Amino acid sequence: MATILLVDIEDAALAGELQAAGHAIARCGLDAATSGNPSPDVALVRPGSAPPASLALKLAAQAPATAWVMLLAPSAAAQAAAVLDAGAADVVIEPLSPAAGRVLVTRLLREQRVRARLDHFERDEARKGNLTEVIGDSKPMRDLLDQVARVSRRSAFGPALSVTLTGETGTGKGLLARVLHYSSRRRDRAFVEINCAAIPATLLESELFGHERGAFTDARAARVGLLEAADGGTLFLDEVAYLAAEGQAKLLTVLETRRVRRLGSSTERQIDVQVIAASSQDLGALAARGSFKPELLHRLSALWFRLPPLRDRADDAVLLAERILARTCESYRLPAKHLSEAAREAIRAHSWPGNVRELAHAVERAVLVEEGEEVAAAHLSLPSAPAPSPGRAGGFPPEGLAAIDSAERALIEQALREAKGNVTRAAALLKVSRDVLRSRVDKYGLDPAGLAGAD
Ligand SMILES: Nc1ncnc2c1ncn2[C@@H]1O[C@H](COP(=O)(O)OP(=O)(O)OP(=O)(O)O)[C@@H](O)[C@H]1O
Ligand SMILES: [Mg+2]
Repeated sequence: MATILLVDIEDAALAGELQAAGHAIARCGLDAATSGNPSPDVALVRPGSAPPASLALKLAAQAPATAWVMLLAPSAAAQAAAVLDAGAADVVIEPLSPAAGRVLVTRLLREQRVRARLDHFERDEARKGNLTEVIGDSKPMRDLLDQVARVSRRSAFGPALSVTLTGETGTGKGLLARVLHYSSRRRDRAFVEINCAAIPATLLESELFGHERGAFTDARAARVGLLEAADGGTLFLDEVAYLAAEGQAKLLTVLETRRVRRLGSSTERQIDVQVIAASSQDLGALAARGSFKPELLHRLSALWFRLPPLRDRADDAVLLAERILARTCESYRLPAKHLSEAAREAIRAHSWPGNVRELAHAVERAVLVEEGEEVAAAHLSLPSAPAPSPGRAGGFPPEGLAAIDSAERALIEQALREAKGNVTRAAALLKVSRDVLRSRVDKYGLDPAGLAGAD
């Protein structure tokens, strides 16, 4: 039940309507509202002779979680915009009918719920983007984090940066992208993320650049592109190598001119966006082969951070396992556990094709499934390495180039079977990201859960 405060409003019909909607009604005068610190969910205020904008400012500062609505006489209508700017949730020019009051309150309560969820999400994102969340004490990680901290400090002013992150799946590219955003002056603006591997090539360009109505057959309404949506903030372009040649050329133009043009539009808009591109592929090799535009790579990689695979930093693997173990026990409110000596050795020795993500899953699984306060090596149930060998006797296969698809499909099925239908783990075995694997699973119409049990 929400509490609605009526300030200097003696309107029995309105109060009755709000009560009928299930709200609790409280009433007070203006003095009590400004001195008594009430914090209802919604307050309807008749300012009387008080200047409405300064009153709104005071009330909003006093109880920022309350939606303060100012009821203005028609003669004061000219002040409505100033009242809103001062922090009122809404302004109503009187008279306010009971039915309209009920609709207004319902809408404001709905907005409050959305805002609460958004706040929660943003706090969570900001926490995840904190530099202290990045675990690693090995020399390559320390060097990398030092560099990141330096860049964040120095980029406090000046034009938007372009950054490239490369590293195998699960090495922390997504994490680092958040850290770069949330430790920059852009932290209060949007962090917009798009995975180029997860979106069909035909839609990707309109997602990025936006389009005008009628730009192509399905474009029934105009749409703001993600580059525009990220204005003032950061666009995280994950798996950037999946952007097709034309999109690459357009992106290069945007980075060079800092202007974006929606598909089908003749006007350009100025934008200020920090672009962070990531790839689990070797962008240098792709550029050399001609499948990634070298000029774009050049533009994007003024700052190029390479995330080392976990197998090259065994000490970090153990440190990460310990931290993840502690964190997981805490979040499930379980007593603390520790790693056995053999478990540590197994963690050091394993090659972690899925890197930190695979490690986190192994540890979380051990915490949830196994008993006891010691995590033994066997509890980590490390998968054995895959042995794919779709061999062929010689000459050309009868299906021609389609043999590649069959081989790909067979490998994916094998990985899904070994991973018992767990797409993340199968992706790790295949050394691709989950999204890449998901797009292939869709392409071949496979059913991971079905394969899990099909021995
Ligand atoms: N150094 C680290 N310290 C703490 N957590 C980490 C670290 N590196 C990665 N992680 C965690 O491991 C998981 C995988 O990392 P992330 O998603 O950033 O990898 P990625 O490189 O983007 O992988 P992919 O290419 O598959 O998208 C995340 O939950 C992330 O928070
Ligand atoms: Mg990622």
